[in-house]
Amino acid sequence: MTEETIKTEALMSEKRVFNPPKKIAENANIVDWEAALKRGEEDLEGFWEDAAKELEWFGKWDKVLDDSGKPFYKWFTGAKCNIVHNALDRHIKTPLKGKVAIIAEAEDGKVRKFTYAQLHKEVCKFANVLKSLGIKKGDRVAIYMPNIPEIAIAMLATVKIGAIHSVVFAGYGEGALKIRIEDAEAKIIVCADGVGRGGKKINLKDTVDKAVAQCPAIKKTIVVKNAGLDVDMANCAWYHELMETASDKCETERMDSEDILYILYTSGTTGKPKGVIHVHGGYMVGVNRTLRWVFDIKPQDIFWCAADPGWVTGHSYIVYGPLLAGTTTLMYEGHPTYPDPGRMWDIIERHSVTILYTAPTMIRMLMGLGDEWPKKHDLNTLRLLGSVGEPINPEAWMWYYKNVGGERCPIMDTWWQTETGMFMLTPTPQTPLKPGSATKPFPGVQAKIVDNDGKEVETGKGGHLAITTPWPAMLRTVYKNPERYKKTYWQEVPGGMYISGDIARKDEDGYFWVQGRSDDVLKIAGHRIGTAEIESAFVSHKAVAEAAVIGIPDEVKGETGKAFVILKKGFAGNAELVEDLKKHVRKELGPLAIIDSIKFVGSLPKTRSGKIMRRVLKARELGLDEGDTSALVD
Ligand code: WTA
Repeated sequence: MTEETIKTEALMSEKRVFNPPKKIAENANIVDWEAALKRGEEDLEGFWEDAAKELEWFGKWDKVLDDSGKPFYKWFTGAKCNIVHNALDRHIKTPLKGKVAIIAEAEDGKVRKFTYAQLHKEVCKFANVLKSLGIKKGDRVAIYMPNIPEIAIAMLATVKIGAIHSVVFAGYGEGALKIRIEDAEAKIIVCADGVGRGGKKINLKDTVDKAVAQCPAIKKTIVVKNAGLDVDMANCAWYHELMETASDKCETERMDSEDILYILYTSGTTGKPKGVIHVHGGYMVGVNRTLRWVFDIKPQDIFWCAADPGWVTGHSYIVYGPLLAGTTTLMYEGHPTYPDPGRMWDIIERHSVTILYTAPTMIRMLMGLGDEWPKKHDLNTLRLLGSVGEPINPEAWMWYYKNVGGERCPIMDTWWQTETGMFMLTPTPQTPLKPGSATKPFPGVQAKIVDNDGKEVETGKGGHLAITTPWPAMLRTVYKNPERYKKTYWQEVPGGMYISGDIARKDEDGYFWVQGRSDDVLKIAGHRIGTAEIESAFVSHKAVAEAAVIGIPDEVKGETGKAFVILKKGFAGNAELVEDLKKHVRKELGPLAIIDSIKFVGSLPKTRSGKIMRRVLKARELGLDEGDTSALVD
């Protein structure tokens, strides 16, 4: 195929359909996709009850779905369980005991492997460490670590004893970390001294120290020696020293199905992130069923979700999902193009990876580095590919399909969110694919495109992507803020539907095409970050009076931020200040908040009530129609 034909095909993508290879479709875990869709529609509760029966419970549910307090839905009420029992304990009574659960590769090439039995022991030990430090059921444990097995061990150990983890992505800066520790009222933080990335050792402990200094509720910092850095250990304990004397036997706590499993903060439209709450029962059912059906987990699979455990993708599909499914999950700590652009392909070849799940940003970046890199490696073990985090443009889809998947691996473009916990719109290995479309809702999920009044829009027209029936892995609330939960997700549009915050359309085959966010949330390199959060980082700088941030399209990263800044009296908007502001935002939020440019302005477009109209700024910046500006003051 020439470049030109790929381009033309991509443009015709809405018409072009890729059928999954017969061999894959016929042997899929999902027996009949169409029938499953129908079943999910006709018998939602029966469908999810069947999925629940694939797991072990300490006590059975009275009800599958309790909608009496909607939108505070409950699933499998009355049941007793613990996700860690299903992810670990039950496996070590089977031949899975000796199977590799985690393959971990560091940037320097060092590989560590943990069998299910070994992982179980480590988790029991760390659970006992937490207990010895006074952590009890319901307590919050903050975790700030790179993509290393200890992050999974810390998460699982916390949950084993009934405590709640709040993982903060280790790329976040001290300001972002502090807000999250504070809101969760965490008592302990588990971190690493540093991380190896791009040939350098990056210190994480300093960031933790600065954040913890402002969080008196933290009683202890536990530090994993990962990068071999010389760090200050005042009021800290080394992980390996605590583990040395810990017993490797620990009972798993019996939890209610609706007990909190974890808090994961995500950006919204205000400066304060939302603590999304997931619970044991429904989450494990949703994650287990979606992973087994979409990525079609088979006994011989080596599953690589090349995300970070600090995001929901990592929670659901690096840690919990793969372990629930009893498969082998791969964790790579380093930079994807270090020491050369073939690193990812090299990892796939050396570990015989069968399923690769990554983000469009990564695909576009690797595509830009040239076809020769994947060609240098044997990628024949790959059977399925996946994409998540942003809409995948058809060009990137085609490149991935052809150069990575060798035109034999279907691409699972999975649309979902921190809030949904599990895949929502997604193909399965039996679904005819259209590049750029996440296809249809997963069986047992119902979605619609609606207008501002909650009415379904015509085929082909854009609107809010709404989920119209509850699903087991749904968020239960926003931590300590049930009002925000109701308002943000259920009341913006009438009709009692879950409003995702995304804009999408549906084509005549019923396929969904997600276009992007409808709110002030950016997706920079697949990372979700609120403009309000970036703006408050700007305003915390001494020179800044006011700031507005908008997203600017970027070919590789999807979006980057552009800031409009009003300075306080006495400050001059020069190049030096631009650099200083960029540094400041980086320190507060971390390198993920990429500010491409900063413009100093005298005023910002606002509504009469003083709200900044970012939409107007964006339209002016991109030369688009400004739309309705009647609310504009100036
Ligand atoms: C976007 C990540 C298009 C979307 C799992 C959503 C996608 C936000 C896709 C959630 C996809 C995720 N196609 N857009 N396949 N997957 N998104 O919470 O805007 O980090 O609302 O969860 O990512 O981001 P979050």
